[in-house]
Amino acid sequence: MCASITTDISNYGARGMGDPSHTMKALTWQGKNSVKVVDTARPRIIDQGDVILRVTGSTICGSDLHLFHEAIEDLEKDDILGHEFCGIVDTVGPAVKKVKVGERAVASFQIACGDCYYCKKKLSSMCERTNSSEHASQLYGRRTAGMFGYSHFTGGFAGGQAEYVRVPYGDVNLLKLPDDVPDEKGLYLSDVLGTSWNAVVDTGVEKGDTVAIWGGGPVGQMAAEFSFFHGAKRVILIDGGLGKWRLEHVKKILPKLETIEYTNLPKGETVTSTLKKMCDGRGPDVAIECAAGEYTKGWAHYFERLLGMETDTSELLNEMITSVRGFGRCGVTGVYTGYCNHFNIGSMMETGVHLAGNGQAPVQKYWHDLLKCIQEERIQPLHMVTHRFKLEDMDKVYELYNRREPGVQKIFVQTKFSAPPSPGAPALTKL
Ligand SMILES: NC(=O)c1ccc[n+]([C@@H]2O[C@H](COP(=O)([O-])OP(=O)(O)OC[C@H]3O[C@@H](n4cnc5c(N)ncnc54)[C@H](O)[C@@H]3O)[C@@H](O)[C@H]2O)c1
Ligand SMILES: [Zn+2]
Ligand SMILES: [Zn+2]
Repeated sequence: MCASITTDISNYGARGMGDPSHTMKALTWQGKNSVKVVDTARPRIIDQGDVILRVTGSTICGSDLHLFHEAIEDLEKDDILGHEFCGIVDTVGPAVKKVKVGERAVASFQIACGDCYYCKKKLSSMCERTNSSEHASQLYGRRTAGMFGYSHFTGGFAGGQAEYVRVPYGDVNLLKLPDDVPDEKGLYLSDVLGTSWNAVVDTGVEKGDTVAIWGGGPVGQMAAEFSFFHGAKRVILIDGGLGKWRLEHVKKILPKLETIEYTNLPKGETVTSTLKKMCDGRGPDVAIECAAGEYTKGWAHYFERLLGMETDTSELLNEMITSVRGFGRCGVTGVYTGYCNHFNIGSMMETGVHLAGNGQAPVQKYWHDLLKCIQEERIQPLHMVTHRFKLEDMDKVYELYNRREPGVQKIFVQTKFSAPPSPGAPALTKL
């Protein structure tokens, strides 16, 4: 099916799709491991349902690192990145009915039409009308919805690490933020909150479960918190290397959390043997992957990826499959882009392990309920937010996040339109 909106406008200055008489600041992709803040044309209404949002908050996600590393294909120089953002409605197209100029709103990272087969099932991340990438269809047999700031593989939409952004189907893809939810809490409904929630419910975490989570970044942290929320008895978080500080960081917030530093195991022990020992010799009930397929561990996969023999490592998947108990459940939320070698399908088949892709999370399925949970203080987005930076410093933020700078977990990026920090949110750090 073809897209019902104009796709592949990843920088409004290109193809004359913007308003060159008004410029704005935006973070652009320049090549592998290279991003730059530039002045470029501001967006304008292109399709009837478009909304132009004046951005007051954005951030960086582990998924942006996959773009930074060029682990995701179909990027073009000058693409504007960023898929988590909130702001104030600046302009609305003629077909926009619900959203009003001046309202505060958060955007979902996926662009949905609200009306197709998948949108009717609330699977907004699989919308059939917002991504026209042939490459995606060929590789996956179907394609995801369009996504903001996430390469031409997902529609080529300019993202929200910018002062303004075009939001197609604004009535569908913007959620109004009430006055009692400041940007520093509401912003994360774009992605990380819905993603972590989806990881937990889609993998089927139940009361009394023991859950092991690979990756202690913001997604893994909130998946740990939401596992407890859904009744898990024990949660074991696994990280290591440059990310090892995250284990202590998350444990401070969740004292019941147990941890494994995978780069500091006793000689002869593996993640799987350690998990077996911690869980009655049998293993956890549930495993959730919140790291990514580009993070190889051993030399074999390092070289196989380097030589293009696989796009993703199977090492973490195999650890999950062999660690959980028989008929255990494994969910993959960390990004995998294509193929992997040496996948232990035997363990999965013979011992009844259920392995599920959690998908690009259909955040719109959850965002109304999660907003209510924030208002009732039943979930705490600020638990993961450690820093506030300026959009002008965003190129430096990529470097810092990429090297997993100790203490920098989830960040809030302000623009010249942002309100001062709200109570409990971090103060500005100048870089
Ligand atoms: N499915 C979705 O809808 C969706 C949405 C958002 C993010 N994501 C993905 O989720 C993943 C996590 O996101 P994030 O923002 O927390 O990223 P992040 O990069 O900040 O965190 C990833 C963590 O994984 C750790 N890690 C690396 N190799 C590991 C290994 N072998 N074992 C255990 N831990 C390991 C890293 O040290 C790091 O702390 C990323 O792949 C991101 O792209 C998916
Ligand atoms: Zn993300
Ligand atoms: Zn749709």
